Amino acid sequence: MNLEVDRGRLFNEIEKLALISDAEPPAVTRVVFSPTDGKARVWFIGLCEQAGLAVRHDPVGNTFARWSGTEPDVPAVGTGSHIDAIPNAGKYDGVVGVLGGLEAIRALQRSGFRPKHSLELLLFTSEEPTRFGIGCLGSRLLSGSMPADAARKLVDKEGASLEEVRRNAGFAGALEEVKLSHGYLKAFVELHIEQGPLLERHRVPIGIVTSIAAPASFRFAVEGAGGHAGAMLMPERRDALCAASELILAIETAAKASGAVDTVATVGICDVFPGAVNSIPSRVRFTLDLRDTSLERRDAVLRVIQAAREDISAKRQVVIQEELVNADAPAQCATEITEALSRACTKHQLASIPMVSRAYHDSLFMSRIVPAGMLFIPCRHGYSHRPDEYSSPEDIERGVLVLAETLAALAS
Ligand code: GLV
Ligand code: MN
Ligand code: MN
Repeated sequence: MNLEVDRGRLFNEIEKLALISDAEPPAVTRVVFSPTDGKARVWFIGLCEQAGLAVRHDPVGNTFARWSGTEPDVPAVGTGSHIDAIPNAGKYDGVVGVLGGLEAIRALQRSGFRPKHSLELLLFTSEEPTRFGIGCLGSRLLSGSMPADAARKLVDKEGASLEEVRRNAGFAGALEEVKLSHGYLKAFVELHIEQGPLLERHRVPIGIVTSIAAPASFRFAVEGAGGHAGAMLMPERRDALCAASELILAIETAAKASGAVDTVATVGICDVFPGAVNSIPSRVRFTLDLRDTSLERRDAVLRVIQAAREDISAKRQVVIQEELVNADAPAQCATEITEALSRACTKHQLASIPMVSRAYHDSLFMSRIVPAGMLFIPCRHGYSHRPDEYSSPEDIERGVLVLAETLAALAS
């Protein structure tokens, strides 16, 4: 099998998709079920159809592009990722796994390979939590990790429900139908940029992911008392922002003190009410994204944060409420996938190292229902979730080559 990746074509497609965006280039913003997301999906489906793939979608908008195998009734081999992008993101997060997955299939087609198991390229809906506050929405539902009832309760900041916006985006049917039937897939492999600096630092082209860290996310609401910024004396204040700040720093300290580099905590949204220069903040809402590869350690850090919350609340006479959004368990990648990836690297004389994924991915949820794995390629300085995210065409080509070789082995 002579596998050749069309690097130029893939590079142009990545650049084109980056222009279907709501941000000023080079930044990319593509929020799920926005008109821009709709345009990107239509464009992507066109590419899949040009490649002769049969395209379908499910009620939440997960899209499946299938290259039928010689035995179409046996379980398919899946690959894919997401094309939604957080505000002010880059061009490569998720996209490399979707467009790279498509190019892997095209390279296999050009080589004359015929899969026995169908190959299916998946575009997952809303891997990013931007709109509904929860990541991996599509793969959670596909894998049955989130009940349809819970998904029906999701609303965005404007008060629009998932039900409403997905139907307006053209995705009808009941959310119960999203869950994949048992045995639908035989294996799942996702190509992604590393989003960290290790591959670049060690000059290794491929990372073979062995485990995926899992997030727990929370919403905090601090209720204090507002008032005049000039007239209210300092000893009498119950400033919600000062209390929130103290808790945010306690969160940082707790994550740093866990004893493992794998513990990370981020407060990424903080809304201050009423938000006036000369008014004491009476209410603050903020989010917490807490992750680890070890569930026990993550829970231990959470207990420290909860103790800090109680102390700060008592000391500052404010009410601090905590609401759990999701708490997912980490995943181990399947040995059969890591071994297949490793054999593909050896075949193409590419060095690889085992890696932990500290970011989460749709594979975290796919691994709950099917042997799943991931391969990483380097990205410059490890930058991601920012406009200067970059992976070179050569690195992307190597990732696609290994992906194609692995898919061929799994689909034979
Ligand atoms: C995915 O984008 C993540 O936040 O890990
Ligand atoms: Mn991301
Ligand atoms: Mn991603």
